Amino acid sequence: MNDSAAGLADPLPVPVYTLTKARSQIVRLVETQGLKVRPDEVRDVEAEVHADLAVPLFRAAKDAGADPVALARELASKLDLSHTLFRQVEAAQGYLNFRFNPVRFARSVVRDFQIEPEGYGKSTLGQGKTIVIDYSSPNIAKPFSVGHLRSTVIGHSLHRILSWLGYFLVGDNHLGDWGTQFGKLLEAWEIWGREELFKEHPTRYLLDLYVRFHEEAKVNPALDDRARDWFRRLENKDQAATRVWRRFVELSSAEFQRIYDLLGVEFDSTLGESFYADRLEPLVRHALDRGVAKREHPLEPAGNGEDDVARDERVVLIPLDSAGIDTPLILQKSDGTSLYATREIATAEYRIENWNPEQILYVVGNEQTFYFRQFNAALRLLGRRTPCVHVSFGLVRLPEGRMSTREGRVVFLEDVIIEAIRRARRIVEDRDMPDDEKEELARIVGIGAIKYADLSQSRVKEVVFDWDKMLALDGDSAPYLQYAHTRCRSILNKAGKPALKSRPDPGLLIHPDEVELLRQIARFPEAVLAAGTNHEPHRIAGRLYKLSQSFSSFYNNVPVLKADSQDLLRTRLYLVEMTGATLRNGLWLLGIEVPDRM
Ligand code: ARG
Repeated sequence: MNDSAAGLADPLPVPVYTLTKARSQIVRLVETQGLKVRPDEVRDVEAEVHADLAVPLFRAAKDAGADPVALARELASKLDLSHTLFRQVEAAQGYLNFRFNPVRFARSVVRDFQIEPEGYGKSTLGQGKTIVIDYSSPNIAKPFSVGHLRSTVIGHSLHRILSWLGYFLVGDNHLGDWGTQFGKLLEAWEIWGREELFKEHPTRYLLDLYVRFHEEAKVNPALDDRARDWFRRLENKDQAATRVWRRFVELSSAEFQRIYDLLGVEFDSTLGESFYADRLEPLVRHALDRGVAKREHPLEPAGNGEDDVARDERVVLIPLDSAGIDTPLILQKSDGTSLYATREIATAEYRIENWNPEQILYVVGNEQTFYFRQFNAALRLLGRRTPCVHVSFGLVRLPEGRMSTREGRVVFLEDVIIEAIRRARRIVEDRDMPDDEKEELARIVGIGAIKYADLSQSRVKEVVFDWDKMLALDGDSAPYLQYAHTRCRSILNKAGKPALKSRPDPGLLIHPDEVELLRQIARFPEAVLAAGTNHEPHRIAGRLYKLSQSFSSFYNNVPVLKADSQDLLRTRLYLVEMTGATLRNGLWLLGIEVPDRM
């Protein structure tokens, strides 16, 4: 170990990749003329012939009281491009258009890659900092629906992306294993519970009980009282209640695990809401003592999700007017029981105390946006400063229409996954490979398709399930990217020796398809950075799609194995190696596996 005297490793320098370097060169060039532009004002120009990078001077010109068009013309004639990645700069309508020097550009990208081929795009930006990410978090009493799929897939991807940026991640599955709904289930179980049905399909059966409870409670409100009583007993550690509850949790968790195994998703920690049960009473007392909370009748019926609170109940609540929010956050019901929000605050405090995170991310659907605003405001009033970021996402829309657990209109995630694999199997049916390989391929392609369909679009949008689009071999889909990757691999396999060992000559990469491919590869590190800092995996997905398209064009137009010279062969193989590694890394960051062959 080469730790420093203080016993701590010296921080690693943050790697600066080619495109980022190019941006700062432009900033510095402009600075030599006494003007200021920001690196993010430098535009990466795609699908355009006049420039590789362009910088608008309108803002800078305004600040300097100059005319942007004249200014651009003046600058273009004065900038000295030697010792930069550029060969040319031109003025165009208030813009400066820069063109790369192709050889210097190619060398720089190849050098970026050579630093750590399997870690191309990594950063040390987050070193020494911890981020807690709360994702998946299904509810025990309810089935794992496709709604939770989004949280699972987005959260898992963000976990990987942020780790790549150097952060220390704690991925925590905040299981919904506590709350009023368990009172309902305990009551339903006592009246109708059938062991053999429960054992056969735990979560489906619990859902049936739950639906039945709500139907019967409509005509027999006494059931609701009894359910409340059960939950109160549970919170008071009543043995009978706890025993049954524990079985609900164990059997459901085993089912969830099956889904996580299929999806290839893992967690660093799985602390359900029940884990915080003992911290709730002290939390409420503390909030009252500090004067942050008070005992009151809520003016409006309030609560979130399962937590219905009656108008006439005397509850403990945190008024949030000081944060500009009219609806108070309720911490405790009149019978002394806790709510989702109570457990939320206890959870945040635990995470802050145990992991000292830079921030906590909550990957939760946008139907909880208001709730997270309330929670954040309440946490602040309680003196906590750690940013808690709601990484929200839109609904999943299925042809079947809107889902409702209470009415039993639910699409089971496991069914969706099995269907994806079945459809993928149809695609690979005629492949010439052993059956077990085919089966594994169908799994990788089917699951990849589901994940990619979710991650390839902006997360705030709704996801509409479209099987054909999801599995299209020639579209913006996982199979298309996976296929591009296997093509890279098959070229390298045919070439025989590991291309990485050979020395490429970047100066030879002058064919337009080669140049374009390099451009796409060069964009990858910034995409990873943007995906991590904005919590937007689709930035990576979009890059990979374009990379695959460029590769396809390169594949059709540029001979690799039949290249004219050994130097060219080695160099092109290297380009293929870079493409393959970038696709593999990028797909890994999305949580998507790559098959050996397709
Ligand atoms: N179990 C909750 C639900 O399904 C999601 C929990 C998300 N995480 C959190 N810390 N609130 O609605």
